Amino acid sequence: MNNKDIFQESRKYMPGGVNSPVRAYTALNIDPPIIKRGQGSHIFDEDGNEYIDFVEAWGPMILGHNNKKVMDAVKVYLEYGVGFGAPTEIELKLAKYICTTVDNVDMLRMVNSGTEATMSAVKLARGYTKRDKIVKFAGGYHGHFDGFLVEAGSGVLTENIPGSPGVPKGSIENTLIAQYNDIESVKALFERYKDEIAAVIIEPVAGNMGVIPAKREFLVSLRNMCTQNGAILIFDEVMSGFRVAYKGAQSLYGIKPDLTTFAKIMGGGFPCGAYGGRRDIMEKLSPTGPVYQAGTMSGNPIVMSAGYASLKELHDNLDCYKYMEKLGQKLEAGINEIAKEKGISLIVNRCVNMMTVFFTDCSEVSTYSDAKKSNTKMFSRFAEHMIKGGVYVPPSQFEAMFLGTAHTEADIDKFLEVMKTM
Ligand SMILES: Cc1ncc(COP(=O)(O)O)c(C=O)c1O
Repeated sequence: MNNKDIFQESRKYMPGGVNSPVRAYTALNIDPPIIKRGQGSHIFDEDGNEYIDFVEAWGPMILGHNNKKVMDAVKVYLEYGVGFGAPTEIELKLAKYICTTVDNVDMLRMVNSGTEATMSAVKLARGYTKRDKIVKFAGGYHGHFDGFLVEAGSGVLTENIPGSPGVPKGSIENTLIAQYNDIESVKALFERYKDEIAAVIIEPVAGNMGVIPAKREFLVSLRNMCTQNGAILIFDEVMSGFRVAYKGAQSLYGIKPDLTTFAKIMGGGFPCGAYGGRRDIMEKLSPTGPVYQAGTMSGNPIVMSAGYASLKELHDNLDCYKYMEKLGQKLEAGINEIAKEKGISLIVNRCVNMMTVFFTDCSEVSTYSDAKKSNTKMFSRFAEHMIKGGVYVPPSQFEAMFLGTAHTEADIDKFLEVMKTM
């Protein structure tokens, strides 16, 4: 079947034809290509079209597709059987590797997705502090757990509106919303809910309102405020972990969270997640402690083998982060030059290999409200043009575009060449 037939048929059997909403291209006037295979920085659809992939499966494929070392590791473990729901040596290998090569993680619990990692980290923080309230930031995404699906209306600090039907009011009454890069909004919550806040969860480099890196002084104040108020600081590094630096965004900012959540890259492309941090907190998890969290598939050996091979490849070649930064600089400069030539108002927000082109007249995009002012029609024109031209970019203004180790200077040149004809 070709792209068109597959998507038409998919719509009959899966809502919107997809298993995760953004894949349906609802913001664009084209259907999503149906991807058949990937090799390095390129992917190929069922019609035989080739694209340079700047989505990387929404982050995990930093090493490119079909990476030989990862595939070889998986093949070895597949020979042993698929899963046992029992302790294995490979899960120890990956857990120990992360605890010893990444700072601020004494112990780790494996799960199966980023959503599971963040919701479990919040439960642990609540169990540890014996408090119920959590603070998240407007525009921050931490997975589809009910307690995080809160839409903040302007200036709303206390009144929570569920961001999705199906989320009962009770699930979000303990979710408080602060504004990204605005420490006063956090301070107001700590003053109002003194001794009630269990945790603050934040993407240190936001990727889900488009890329918006946190300002360092904001994160420093946030760290201090959590310490002073006995609240757990959770860095959600599901996207930024092993990506913006091997040791994550926390290493770029030099800030120590109490707990960190991971997923995406750490599973080498397989469904995976983990949360970890301070030993005294992690030991509160069952079976050593009272906070219950479990998973039939957690620590699956095939997933662990792919994760271990991926992280080892990154850690053995730490210069690859400099390489990705170099490519990022080239892409950013090229986009800005084209925008100038063509008189297009845009801002490129970038942290190493995570990037968003905001089509906007704003002088900077550092908050959720800045991001929301973007010209989404213009973005859609851009994304459609790029995808039709063989450059696979995210189909939404509020997503991150990714660079990986398999991208080449020629891939960047192609991106810019296609953008020039927009
Ligand atoms: C920062 C962040 N946290 C959590 C999640 C949820 O992860 P998953 O889709 O694996 O459940 C995502 C997904 O994109 C994310 O970017």
